[in-house]
Amino acid sequence: MDDLLKLVENSKEEIKSFSSTDKNPAEAFRIRFLGTKGLIKSLMGEMKNISAENRKQMGLVLNDLKLLAEKKHEELVMMNANGQPLIDKALDLTLPGDALPLGSRHPISIVRNRIVSIFQRLGFGVAEGPEIEDDWHNFTALNLPENHPARDMQDTFYVSQNPAWMLRTHTSNVQVREMEKGKLPIRIICPGRVYRNETISARAHCFFHQVEGLYIANNVSFADLKQTLYFFVNAMFGEKIKIRFRPSYFPFTEPSAEMDISCLICGGEGCSVCKHTGWVEILGCGMVHPNVLENCRIDSSQYSGFAFGMGIERITMLKYQIKDLRLFSENDLRFLKQFISAV
Ligand code: PHE
Repeated sequence: MDDLLKLVENSKEEIKSFSSTDKNPAEAFRIRFLGTKGLIKSLMGEMKNISAENRKQMGLVLNDLKLLAEKKHEELVMMNANGQPLIDKALDLTLPGDALPLGSRHPISIVRNRIVSIFQRLGFGVAEGPEIEDDWHNFTALNLPENHPARDMQDTFYVSQNPAWMLRTHTSNVQVREMEKGKLPIRIICPGRVYRNETISARAHCFFHQVEGLYIANNVSFADLKQTLYFFVNAMFGEKIKIRFRPSYFPFTEPSAEMDISCLICGGEGCSVCKHTGWVEILGCGMVHPNVLENCRIDSSQYSGFAFGMGIERITMLKYQIKDLRLFSENDLRFLKQFISAV
């Protein structure tokens, strides 16, 4: 033990005062002390001759020695053969820095931001809510009681550990949560991701993004709904775009409608994008059903409101003429890089 300790002490001195005329002193040092046949390895090999009660202490001593050698080696790596720091030569502070490659926003984010900013100009605020939701906020409060056939319109992913929870099928859950807060009037849009158990294809995916809107105050009418959406379409797609409403059905609105815009590609003449009708559907909307207001403790004899909901993917596909919805979630840089200059 004492012999070994002495050897360690000598090695320490040798490490501290190490110098070499070799043209690579760091490598010479590494071979002498840290290499597989180096001094430290061979000292470690002596451990087997140390008695059990001294082994721990010896281990610590040898470990210190190794740290000391490693530190010295690092210092030598930074020196040239004359013992001058290499760093002076290597670091030229006048060189220009490396350019940072700029990424681009995802097209869905670009279009979402655009939609949000248009509605903000009309005084709508942004509201957000959970993506994992309970039955009340996703369905029941929205006038879809249990076993209502309209639930089949939205194929739902349930959480297997707790079937009372589901992935929201629309962002209408956020509207319910805002109405329940009891502060009126309400003028919000709800952007976010939603989930439906659909077969993945060029036109559908098991998740997508929506922006829904809700306006509740005294005397809100269908005319307000039309005017608001007309403003949106003009700002989003241009002045020349026409809109039309077709009667539809949603359990949470009455009356309900689907809104079409004149085809962006052919201007209404008829083409493959509009299936030769001159129109493309972009959103669902309607006047909030009184049952929904009452479910959220809002007096339907005093207040009325409108709601609408659109898929961001759909708007983006129309705006940028993208033919396959799967491109949005495949992370293919050849696709994403095309949006570098878009804002
Ligand atoms: N929640 C509907 C959907 O996801 C869209 C919608 C919202 C329709 C508000 C009418 C009113 O399909």
